[in-house]
Amino acid sequence: MSGHGQVVCVTGASGFIASWLVKLLLHHGYTIHAIVHDQTKVEHLLGLEGAKERLHLFKANLIEVGSFDSAISGCHGVFHTASPVPFAVEDPQSVPMWYRISKTLAEDAAWKFCKENGIELISMNPGMVIGPMLQPTLNGSVALIFNLVGEKTFPNAAFGLVHVKDVVTAHILAFEVPSASGRYVLVETVAHCSEIVRILQELYPSLSLPDKCADDKPLAPTYQVSKEKVKSLGISFIPFEVTLKETVENLMEKGLLSFKCK
Ligand SMILES: NC(=O)c1ccc[n+]([C@@H]2O[C@H](COP(=O)([O-])OP(=O)(O)OC[C@H]3O[C@@H](n4cnc5c(N)ncnc54)[C@H](OP(=O)(O)O)[C@@H]3O)[C@@H](O)[C@H]2O)c1
Repeated sequence: MSGHGQVVCVTGASGFIASWLVKLLLHHGYTIHAIVHDQTKVEHLLGLEGAKERLHLFKANLIEVGSFDSAISGCHGVFHTASPVPFAVEDPQSVPMWYRISKTLAEDAAWKFCKENGIELISMNPGMVIGPMLQPTLNGSVALIFNLVGEKTFPNAAFGLVHVKDVVTAHILAFEVPSASGRYVLVETVAHCSEIVRILQELYPSLSLPDKCADDKPLAPTYQVSKEKVKSLGISFIPFEVTLKETVENLMEKGLLSFKCK
């Protein structure tokens, strides 16, 4: 990866995924126009290596037409991650229907707009993204893991899961690899919450974890997600156990899990 001399824009730059994107893009020599919604959430970005020289902050709001224009102008590419992400930290499973619909409609609109205007588009579709957080506050998808700790029961649900670093590496490779095109699905594994709890208990015997499912129904089925296409970018996924370990260790470092030990 090499971005020397290239200027790229990252929208939603203070968010969970985009903060890692900014970090990795800076590491590879890119200059970044980082669009943020709330300018009080940028402290963790300003401390990144290379930020002083190559990170330029812009403020914009998705619902204000034209507010992204000055940041995007002159960029070689745009990594568009900004979106309200309403996974409630208390219950990341309860994703409102409007969010699911908004993602489908936004992607459809992007494909139509790019086709009509001769813009090259690649869309990335990750499963539930977990891993260490650079931002100081807990985000909805990492809360899925956080919320299992200290509970009596685990939800009867299965999720496609992927490490945040693999998600951002795939974004950058999709930008850099000339043959990249179309849509990519990013899922390392699909696991039921019972399996996540089992691995967590093995890794951290002192964590207080649920031993019962929240209902008596058959366990929600897992399924397969093909890695074929994304592997063509050169990605080899971080194994789920490592992802889980890095997620928990980051939560511990941030002091978020200490009170949840047995
Ligand atoms: N995390 C996952 O598991 C997952 C899975 C699949 C897809 N995604 C997608 O990946 C992207 C990033 O997700 P994330 O988990 O990193 O979420 P996140 O941490 O909540 O980041 C979302 C970013 O979007 C910004 N934003 C929200 N409303 C905005 C508005 N009206 N105008 C401008 N910016 C706005 C937020 O800024 P403020 O905080 O300042 O409002 C935040 O920086 C989203 O498009 C999400 O739908 C995430």
